[in-house]
Amino acid sequence: MDRVRISSIADQWMIPTSKTSYMAGIESKPVIAAARGVWVIDTEGREYLDFGSGQMAAALGHNHPRYVAAVRRNLETISHSTKTFLNVDRLELHERLGQILTPPLQKSLFLVSGSDAIEAAIDLARKATGGVDVLGLHMALHGSTSFITRSLTFGWNRSRHGLAAPSTAAILSPYCYRCPVGKSFPSCEVQCLASSMELADANFTGKPAAMILEPVMSAGGIVVPPPGYVKLLKQYCRERDMLLIMDESQTGLGKTGKMWGHLHEDVVPDIMTVSKHFGAGLPISAVCTTAEIADRAVENGYFATRSHACDPITCAAGVASIDIVLEEKLAERAAAIEVRVKAAIGAMAQRYDFIGDIRGRGVLLGVELVEDQATRNPANEMGREAVRRCEERGLLVQARGSHSRTNVIRLVPPMVSSEREIDQGLAILDDVFASLSRDRAGTKGLAAE
Ligand SMILES: Cc1ncc(COP(=O)(O)O)c(C=O)c1O
Repeated sequence: MDRVRISSIADQWMIPTSKTSYMAGIESKPVIAAARGVWVIDTEGREYLDFGSGQMAAALGHNHPRYVAAVRRNLETISHSTKTFLNVDRLELHERLGQILTPPLQKSLFLVSGSDAIEAAIDLARKATGGVDVLGLHMALHGSTSFITRSLTFGWNRSRHGLAAPSTAAILSPYCYRCPVGKSFPSCEVQCLASSMELADANFTGKPAAMILEPVMSAGGIVVPPPGYVKLLKQYCRERDMLLIMDESQTGLGKTGKMWGHLHEDVVPDIMTVSKHFGAGLPISAVCTTAEIADRAVENGYFATRSHACDPITCAAGVASIDIVLEEKLAERAAAIEVRVKAAIGAMAQRYDFIGDIRGRGVLLGVELVEDQATRNPANEMGREAVRRCEERGLLVQARGSHSRTNVIRLVPPMVSSEREIDQGLAILDDVFASLSRDRAGTKGLAAE
């Protein structure tokens, strides 16, 4: 497909992409035509290292052969099915997922998107507790459906989405690099959480139901809570009869270097959601909980589903995905990638004074760019420019952050990336940082003249 045809289709047939969204400018960017493994290829035949893992959902690499075989088999046997009967692939997926959940998590229910799973998780918590109020972190992203998930996505500007769902409120995020209460960990004694809960108590309009969090806030700028934070949060939840929901869309199935993001803190959530590479390339998500919570919610009328929620083809993709993660030891590989990337970027930070922080877990990593390391003022424009220059040189990454910050370069290389591919991506990043450093030196020189 040539550029003229691409523009004409986009102009005539596509609803335009908002200039304020993170997808702005998509119409004039390369158009993706194919992918394999860690690479994507555009319509002009250019290859890019995909260090965004697609939309963070190609952590197994694109078109993993085992996933392709499972999908092909189901295309020839059964792809869609009624939900008024069980099907074999669905049963196998419940069993496979159940076997890798952290006890007492055991039961699962399937949906299509990550947002679906969040909506269903909130409903589950409300039905199980009889409560309504739900808290989320103020830099979080939990989805883009029009009501509950957008309302809990405090990291975007909620005012852009019109009416917000009642009984949803934010608490301060544990963003230690920019502490929201101006303190330092550990001497802060996690003041952000204590003050937040005091305020939340004052704001609750009814009985509270749940607190939701990502084990690593991804779109908000790869923010990892400090040690002990999640344990304390669970204690606060217990004191209020609230359930703790973990959104493991981005952190689940090996990506943080362990099977689940919550294993780093040794805190088991009451409810957990899974999506992204759960379907290895096809959309399927899950809500998981304990038998006891499931029974309590169902007694109160809980159910959640979609027409394509339990399709044999997506369930077969889910089984293939879990098998790939386990058999190829992808969590261990993600942990090794983390060590390699952090070491390389740590060395770059010695040379580039605009690297403020390097953080994340496994293959969910972030490099925070700042105007200078003392003030830590976010280098938003530099973040966007770094992404553009990476793309020019054949590396796909995204600039993320919450509340209009775009200064965190998010790196999510697929867990199957070879050391060579990781080093290739890092070499491009180094080259881009070098070019930004030269530009800054030039600008400072001009200012001094
Ligand atoms: C942490 C998290 N939760 C939920 C979602 C929503 O998933 P989906 O876009 O599949 O609805 C996303 C999407 O990126 C996410 O990052």
